[in-house]
Amino acid sequence: MVSPPRPVPPTPEALARAAALLRAGRLVAFPTETVYGLGAHALDAAAVGRIYAAKGRPATNPVIVHVADAAAARTLAAAWPPAAEALAARFWPGPLTLVLPKAAAVPDAVTAGLPAVALRVPAHPVALALLRAAGLPVAAPSANRSTEVSPTTAAHVVASLGSAVDLVLDGGPTTVGIESTVLDLTGDRPRILRPGMVSAEAIAAVAGPLAVAPTTVDDATPRASPGMMERHYAPRAPLRVVEHGMLAGAVAAGPAPVGLVTYRPPPTLVGAPRIVMLPDEPEGYARRLYAALHELDAAGAAAIVVEAVPETAAWDAIRDRLRRAATP
Ligand code: TXA
Ligand code: MG
Repeated sequence: MVSPPRPVPPTPEALARAAALLRAGRLVAFPTETVYGLGAHALDAAAVGRIYAAKGRPATNPVIVHVADAAAARTLAAAWPPAAEALAARFWPGPLTLVLPKAAAVPDAVTAGLPAVALRVPAHPVALALLRAAGLPVAAPSANRSTEVSPTTAAHVVASLGSAVDLVLDGGPTTVGIESTVLDLTGDRPRILRPGMVSAEAIAAVAGPLAVAPTTVDDATPRASPGMMERHYAPRAPLRVVEHGMLAGAVAAGPAPVGLVTYRPPPTLVGAPRIVMLPDEPEGYARRLYAALHELDAAGAAAIVVEAVPETAAWDAIRDRLRRAATP
């Protein structure tokens, strides 16, 4: 068996090696501000095919293309409406992905055959340095096996993908912590396909009123964005989201050992769960949520109980991820 790669610090030498690997069609995991990405040369269909193989990802789920700046994004889109211009100027580099009609150069392997491509300029110095060194667009989904919780550290990448990845650049823990907002700009109005920390309100302030999008899609409905599939971002242990007042009962119900994720001091508990208390504001909570789930999985939790988070808009993306992580 090939031993898994050891994450390397992003020295100039490591970045040059990573860029050379990408140009040669190999896979490089790298940090972004949201989660770690599993990168491949976006214009090389065979290289993109390796991403799907490494993740066990269904060929119907397209991947995001990362570029160093808006000018590079524009060359990959067949249309660049004023909303794209305004949103790119306001939010890039940053955790917003724009879906636009694809240019001919973008292979079908990237878009899963869809006529649109998802584009993003990440706000992480290592990601930007890699994109500049490689001098090419980098297709990158989150660097985890399909349906697992996304990685927010280099160690999470290695634990999930092992030797399926050729090089892992270690940029430390990511700061946003959950995946980018995915925004479809191919219709009459912008439409959120996946909520993220760039909020609907912030987008509407720049691009005008949004189209109403379903936040969940059942299996019978054709998907505009296959990442909308219900169970996703899930830890190994079954996960339940429970109101604060029901936490004690949920922990007592087990099965033990229970891992408990709260953002307020927990009530008196029967049983001895492993408790991870997260910040009580959405930015801090999002930053640490996936690490908490990885930690409880690694600690051997047989069940994970998560305190329900507030129903306010600022917590939209977090509620979305918890819903998808929950066991049906
Ligand atoms: O923050 C992020 O977005 C991270 C980092 C690595 O950039 N990437 C990420 O990629 O989360 P992934 O593959 O795990 O999720 C990409 C999402 C999926 O929901 C996918 O369906 C959607 O973007 N997507 C990609 N291309 C699309 C397209 N052409 N049309 C519609 N949705 C698309
Ligand atoms: Mg993913």
